[in-house]
Amino acid sequence: MKRKIGLIGGGQIGGNLALLAIQKQLGDVVLYDIPQAEGLVKGKALDINQLTAVEGYDCRVTGTTDWNQVRGSDVLVITAGVPRKPGMSREDLLEVNLKIMRDVAANIKQYCSNAFVINIANPLDAMVFALYKITGFKKNQVVGMAGVLDTSRFKFFVSEALGCSIRDVEALVLGGHGDDMGPLIRHAIVGGGRLTQLLNKEEIDDVVRRTRDGGAELVALYKTGSAYFAPAASAIAMAESYLLDRKRVLPCTAYLDGEYGIRGYFMGVPAQIGAGGVEKIFELALNENEKAEMDKSFDSVKKTVASVKL
Ligand SMILES: NC(=O)c1ccc[n+]([C@@H]2O[C@H](COP(=O)([O-])OP(=O)(O)OC[C@H]3O[C@@H](n4cnc5c(N)ncnc54)[C@H](O)[C@@H]3O)[C@@H](O)[C@H]2O)c1
Repeated sequence: MKRKIGLIGGGQIGGNLALLAIQKQLGDVVLYDIPQAEGLVKGKALDINQLTAVEGYDCRVTGTTDWNQVRGSDVLVITAGVPRKPGMSREDLLEVNLKIMRDVAANIKQYCSNAFVINIANPLDAMVFALYKITGFKKNQVVGMAGVLDTSRFKFFVSEALGCSIRDVEALVLGGHGDDMGPLIRHAIVGGGRLTQLLNKEEIDDVVRRTRDGGAELVALYKTGSAYFAPAASAIAMAESYLLDRKRVLPCTAYLDGEYGIRGYFMGVPAQIGAGGVEKIFELALNENEKAEMDKSFDSVKKTVASVKL
């Protein structure tokens, strides 16, 4: 039987999620949005369905404003929420997006109690916390997407700096999805060699800065919203690992229950995603500097989460 993928929010990222899910033939897609956006999701669904003949895809997209059609989804990806405009931080979105999350999470609880839920809406770490609290779902059932994207940006800038294939860059970004996210320089490997021996300090600082500002750089270019191609591809990698039980170890915003000395919060860490959802958290041995960076990032996450009134 085909799997069912529910996409909550049919805007820029939602539309690209639908396209990628069909191109990878992960299952049938339901693209949900509010009644004001009915034409948008019905249009995107029809447009994507009209390309299925080109490659012979058997999966289909349904655009809807009715939660009944989302019912029973195996996996949900949430993009319902407002994106940043130039000059805004992700935290500036908290109030407006929390209101949306209250509505979305209550419906998820009612219609999709067994789904694995991936949140993308910002501010990421606080929104996934709200989602977890409102649904009351198990800690392995709820996760946020940020680390796959931040890590992909990190790898891209490394490959650009070295002029080498991105396939041979191994790297990771830890922590919250904010301005103090932590690209792990010491753990970055290119073709078996350490990044620290391949680039000088200024070059590494530049890679770190561009990684941290990766989202803001796109907001400044687009002017009316934020990144959408790379965020969609990143969330699809997580959904795919769950649906196909790939057990990939991906940087995800996962619930920490004592790992990294943190309990009761969601933070970006390497996590194994398989049929059981978030199956395992991988704890890296961090040095003093890396621990300090993680703590700093955690302080920012705690501050935003403290403003989450449910
Ligand atoms: N986690 C990340 O790495 C990352 C990266 C980029 C963007 N984002 C965030 O993702 C979110 C979506 O970005 P986008 O570019 O797709 O925005 P968008 O404005 O194009 O789409 C958002 C959609 O959500 C819909 N929506 C609003 N209220 C809803 C509700 N109650 N139920 C269902 N849908 C609802 C809107 O109608 C709109 O179509 C933003 O919050 C943005 O900041 C996160």
